[in-house]
Amino acid sequence: MTKVFRFGVIGCGLMGREFASAAARWLHLSNPAARPEIVAVCDTNASLMDWFADNVPTVKQRTTDYRELLANPDVEAIYCAVPHVLHQEFYIAILEAGKHLLGEKPFGMDLMQNRAIMAALAKRPDLVVRCSSEMPFFPGAQKVIQMANAGAFGDIIEVEAGFLHSSDLDRKKPINWKRMEHINGDYGCMGDLGMHVLHVPLRLGWKPQTVHAQLVKRVTERPDGKGGMVPCTTWDNAAISTRVKTDSQDFPMLLKTFRIAPGESNTWYIRVLGMNKSAFFSTKQPRQWHWMDYEGGRQSWQTEDLGYDSLFPTITGKIFEFGFIDAIQQMWAAFVDELAGNKANGFHCATPDEAASHHAVLTAALVSGSENRVVSVDYSTGISA
Ligand SMILES: NC(=O)c1ccc[n+]([C@@H]2O[C@H](COP(=O)([O-])OP(=O)(O)OC[C@H]3O[C@@H](n4cnc5c(N)ncnc54)[C@H](O)[C@@H]3O)[C@@H](O)[C@H]2O)c1
Repeated sequence: MTKVFRFGVIGCGLMGREFASAAARWLHLSNPAARPEIVAVCDTNASLMDWFADNVPTVKQRTTDYRELLANPDVEAIYCAVPHVLHQEFYIAILEAGKHLLGEKPFGMDLMQNRAIMAALAKRPDLVVRCSSEMPFFPGAQKVIQMANAGAFGDIIEVEAGFLHSSDLDRKKPINWKRMEHINGDYGCMGDLGMHVLHVPLRLGWKPQTVHAQLVKRVTERPDGKGGMVPCTTWDNAAISTRVKTDSQDFPMLLKTFRIAPGESNTWYIRVLGMNKSAFFSTKQPRQWHWMDYEGGRQSWQTEDLGYDSLFPTITGKIFEFGFIDAIQQMWAAFVDELAGNKANGFHCATPDEAASHHAVLTAALVSGSENRVVSVDYSTGISA
């Protein structure tokens, strides 16, 4: 029988409801080892909890105080999707309450917050804890990852990974917490998008040793939604030029986290250029991936329509399209599969260690961008520092 894990959702906004949607159509997955059931919700905005009451009949507890939810012995695991400034307090309380956690990125607003979370985590090795990052679950992304794992690229010439948004191009877009430094953090666009961009490189062992970041602020004030204007001080765009050195490779890697990329609504991509093979996948063309084999003759890129060739099998025919909400569900399938004691079909969600490494890169990028110099990345955990 399919095992059931009872979940609490803390933060019922954009992402909290994406989880509810993925959980509601769990029948989409073929023979999952386990399934999530949302039994408790918490948000300071009561109308968002009304949405859960209307749409998720299994919810028995609703509260504006996350501590009450954590005291509920019925709740085994938590999805926490709250503004960045709350990650440290909430994630630590969740771990201390002995609940499994899928936490949203950036997993702590800054390096110090992340280290505090990692210190709490070190005391609870019994819990399954992962960081949200769904884009690598696109079938095309998995193809690039498989090629890398097979060592097929040969000597790598260059890697580029990016996440591009465009809605902030609109100067009239009212400010929200994601554009406020005291709630979103000093990283700005890097805190929003950096985990998405670094997840695959870090999983493949491509850790930047040095970074040189170009940080851009173009929109310095925004409507406050009440007829006035307020300062908007977060970084809009970051282009981080890094150098990756491993035992066998030494190559440049460019990471882009852009909130202002004209024409791009939510584009995640990765391109790997190698001496033997090269590969490219972008969510802009979600069903296709591209690669090139080179054996000394013709240089010709190939394109394949993948359709719904997902990591976790589903009822959907393989010729049909795969999209964002499918990537979200596949990520959840990976997390719940790990809760059930399995290995997430070989590709688990981003780990807390990967999130900690991404903080090391972003912190170096912040220094680099502010001082316009090359900075070495310090990956030492130093959790007591
Ligand atoms: N994985 C992704 O693709 C993705 C996309 C967007 C956002 N995120 C991340 O998800 C998290 C939340 O972002 P979002 O876009 O859902 O934001 P959101 O603003 O839509 O939702 C956050 C919710 O937290 C609630 N909240 C605020 N303070 C609270 C408190 N003290 N107690 C309980 N609830 C509280 C708010 O009322 C809101 O409903 C962030 O960490 C963000 O980086 C991830």
